[in-house]
Amino acid sequence: MAISVLFVCLGNICRSPTAHGVMETLVKQSAVGDRIFIDSAGTGAWHTGNPPDARSVQVAQSRGYELGHLRARKVTVRDFEQFDYILAMDRQNLQDLERLCPAGFQGHLGLFLEFARRDDTNITAITEVPDPYYGGADGFEQVLDLVEQAAAGLLAEIEHRLT
Ligand code: 4NP
Repeated sequence: MAISVLFVCLGNICRSPTAHGVMETLVKQSAVGDRIFIDSAGTGAWHTGNPPDARSVQVAQSRGYELGHLRARKVTVRDFEQFDYILAMDRQNLQDLERLCPAGFQGHLGLFLEFARRDDTNITAITEVPDPYYGGADGFEQVLDLVEQAAAGLLAEIEHRLT
């Protein structure tokens, strides 16, 4: 048995590649990591083929995560055949995914931050990863904070299912 996760945001150059890179790093350290597959995509196609935003790459690198190898792509209906978890960064992304989702989808479609640790009140008050694209450096740091929390919770659930 293996479990696959697709992270989805709007452009696939800031939030979802950050989640992708952080989760990939956590998965490499996991005893069941060889049975966990991670990918990311955007609901929009503007940045298809592009690497992540330089600001996301830099903030991630400062915390030990590599994003430079990732390339943007648009989410497709076939993703619903291939992924067990499809996790949206915000409610607009989720709404767009729900419109695309085939009736027979058996996996989990929801907000990524549902997996943030429940004992951290600052984090759990926030249910969406805010789009940092048009903002300052603080926004990119906040994306990392939120992503690290939710990725740890998600990995714990997946490890439980795989052991
Ligand atoms: P992301 O951020 O959805 O976190 O990748 C954005 C990146 C690009 C744009 C919007 C959001 N854009 O409009 O080009």
